[in-house]
Amino acid sequence: MAVLKIENLIKDYGALRAVNKVSFEVHSGEVFGLLGPNGAGKTSIISTITTLEKPTEGTITINNLDVTRHERATKAVTGVVPQELVTHGYFNVEEILTFQSGYYGLRKNKEKIHSLMQQLELWSHRHKKIRHLSGGMKRRLMIAKALMHSPQLLLLDEPTAGVDVELRYSIWEQVRDLKKAGVAILFTTHYLEEAEKLCDRVAIIHEGKIQKQGETKELVRKLTSRHLTITLKNKVEYSHPALINQQDNTLEFRVPYSTKIGQFLSELNFRNDNILDMKIREGTLEEAFKYVLNRGEM
Ligand SMILES: Nc1ncnc2c1ncn2[C@@H]1O[C@H](COP(=O)(O)OP(=O)(O)OP(=O)(O)O)[C@@H](O)[C@H]1O
Ligand SMILES: [Mg+2]
Repeated sequence: MAVLKIENLIKDYGALRAVNKVSFEVHSGEVFGLLGPNGAGKTSIISTITTLEKPTEGTITINNLDVTRHERATKAVTGVVPQELVTHGYFNVEEILTFQSGYYGLRKNKEKIHSLMQQLELWSHRHKKIRHLSGGMKRRLMIAKALMHSPQLLLLDEPTAGVDVELRYSIWEQVRDLKKAGVAILFTTHYLEEAEKLCDRVAIIHEGKIQKQGETKELVRKLTSRHLTITLKNKVEYSHPALINQQDNTLEFRVPYSTKIGQFLSELNFRNDNILDMKIREGTLEEAFKYVLNRGEM
């Protein structure tokens, strides 16, 4: 079921078209990755979903309700972790989470507040003023705030930027748990390895336009190749259209996903007793991303 539906979204800032006819959906129980270089338009898309910015054209619905006409109802089911950390320096962690509950009309919410503080390892910092928290702790607090009202749609704008390894893993775990619980998650990141691990589907966006979108694995298969590296006992003079690199006795081939490795090996026709070592490396989302951006294709 599509929780978030964006159709032909355009966002102009004066003469600048930051988002150009973007369409995608995020379904319940799915992590959708929005990937693109700095200035591609990712945060602008998120700002229009949360009605911080008005769309120039196009529609955005959450549970089939237009966000510009049903602001209250759509906000009530949406949680946001913004890219820029917003803080209220003079309050402490527990107070901030209590206020957040209040904004959503949730009273007697102590249990949830305590459980989120524990989950996000904020418990021992609960009496600290926000301005005394480290960057990573502030990030945890932002996540706790976003989850306070158990949203059906979670918008995470670079939640793992500048966080340590431990917090990164704990954010991944949270995302996976929320996904299992049926939450629809929109995730932006510059870490393509992370996107490859977490996102069921991704859209690669450049200069406001979606260049490619689809299932993560499927895109990698379509846009990249496997690399087969063979080390031989004895050097041979060899030429083959798929050979992309040769160093001494080591040869590297690019093998499309459509070609079976076994068939490829028999084509190469090396003597088995001349093969010392063999490695296959799968294509990566990072390679697919670079390929799309370099070609700037539609
Ligand atoms: N409020 C604004 N007013 C004018 N221009 C803006 C505004 N917000 C963003 N822009 C411009 O719109 C374009 C898209 O910016 P946006 O923040 O959406 O990119 P992004 O993909 O989130 O980038 P990053 O990876 O750096 O966070 C950029 O050229 C940016 O300068
Ligand atoms: Mg951004």
